[in-house]
Order: sequence, then structure tokens, then C-alpha cells
Amino acid sequence: MKKVIVHGGAGDFSKSDHDITEYKEGVENAVQAGYDALVTGNALDAVVHAVSSLEDNPLFNAGTGAVLNVEGEVEADAMVMFQGRMGAVGALRNMRNPVQVARLVMDETDHVFLVGEGAYSFGRRWFDHYDPVTEERREKFEELKSHFLRGDTRWKKNAHLYSEHGTVGAVAFDGDLAAATSTGGIWLKLKGRIGDSPLAGCGTYAGEKAALSATGIGENIVRSVFSKSVHDLLPEFSLEKALKMMLAHSPETGAIAIDSGGTVEYAFNTNNMAWAICDRGNVSSFEVNI
Ligand code: GLY
Repeated sequence: MKKVIVHGGAGDFSKSDHDITEYKEGVENAVQAGYDALVTGNALDAVVHAVSSLEDNPLFNAGTGAVLNVEGEVEADAMVMFQGRMGAVGALRNMRNPVQVARLVMDETDHVFLVGEGAYSFGRRWFDHYDPVTEERREKFEELKSHFLRGDTRWKKNAHLYSEHGTVGAVAFDGDLAAATSTGGIWLKLKGRIGDSPLAGCGTYAGEKAALSATGIGENIVRSVFSKSVHDLLPEFSLEKALKMMLAHSPETGAIAIDSGGTVEYAFNTNNMAWAICDRGNVSSFEVNI
């Protein structure tokens, strides 16, 4: 049995400047890329290909088109987990595909997590310097920063002005389980802020029972050690029930999971979440009535 599921963030798509069909096409292309890699490779290849596709799509908050921090820069977080191994990068600048750098941390070093300049220098051994800031994000930054007192350390005070998430992730199963997540984090975050996505067991986890990837306000997901906690509760608890139990106070959260029997789950407490599943080559994805 081979299955891949991806997400492109949870939120309210009616507030987006983009048509819903663009999100749908983006997650469908990503899940197909992941499934093709699963057929020729393994579950790790699947999640890395799926997430790379979403990172290359400027619609989503990861890689090209990631949101900007308070200094107007993209600082990316990403993680992969597979067969008890893991690799992650945090506050990574100027790399096209942070998830691919995270995989190299896992495959090519004795470490699990590189951040900042160190992660960038490491990535440059394989990849070119790349500017992921898009015109659309730059314009939004100029608009938002006028609402934001530069240097303010209380992000939450202004969060309602820019509650856009769009973290991306993928989980895959072919007997083995793999998970990957990638994000630019949250708009106008402080420089150096790390979210849930690259923290093992928070935004990303693949263990014996299941593989999971989450999206939402990272601080809340970290505080609940969400993915590992849900993993340990499965199969007694559904993902949906776990989300209600652990993140009822954080109504911006979504997650996807595949368990070791190949059962797929997705859940979110927002109006919408962009997701797509590929099961035996057949793609299904979210439908939204606007
Ligand atoms: N969930 C993405 C972040 O908060 O960084």
C-alpha cells in the first residue's frame, strides 16, 4: 500500500487574494510529485518531493513566497523524519528548498538540527544562494509594518492583522512512515524565532505508530508537543479529537497523519485547510464552497 497526504496550511481562504483553485492545484501537484517519488523511491523521497513542490509554489508560506520576519527577511524552518532518524533546519536564509537541506542534515551529518548561518553554510555545499522573497510578500510587508512597532517583542498584539499561515507538510506510507514540514513561520516574527515545524514531536513527527505534520501558530503547537502527543494517543484518539483536546484554545490549527496501517486522517479547526491525498495513484483534495 502506498499513500501520500499533503497540506498547504489552514485558514480562511475567502480572505485570500488568490482563487481557491490555485491552492487546490498546488496541493494536487505536490501530492502527485510525492506519489511519483514514492513509486520510484521510498516514503522519505515522497515527502521531500511533495514539500519541495509546495516550497516552489509562491502561494504557500514556505520556500519561495514564505512570509517575512520583522527585518523583512525570510527565515525558513524545515524538518524531515524517517525510520527513527531526523534532520532539521531553523532560521535558514537564502535557500530555495529548506526541506532538502533538512534531509541533508539527516543523511550527511551526525547532527539533527542546524540553524542560521551554520545551516546556510552547510546548504551552500550543495545548493546555490537563492532569494525566496517575492514581490507580493514584499508589498504585504510594507503594508503590515506600518501597523507594527518595529522591535516590539509582543507579536500577538498585532497578530490579527496578518493571520495568514500556509505552512506546508507531507506524510507518506509504503510500509515505512515519513513526515516533512516546511515554513516561513509567522508574519513579522522576531529575527531568530523558531516555530514548531523543525522541532521533533511538535510540528513534525514520524514514529512507529504514525507520521504527522501540523500547521498553525507554532508557539501553541510547541507548548502542547502536539505531534508526538497525538502519535502516542493513536489509535484510541482520532486526530480530530486530539486537536480539540490539545489545541482548542488555538483556533488556527490543522494537521495530517498516516498511521502504520495506512489509514489517513486530516483535521483542522479553521474554516479551511488545503490538503490532498494520493492513494494508489488517485488524487483527491479539498473542496470549498464559497
Ligand atoms: N506553524 C508554523 C510556525 O508557526 O512557524
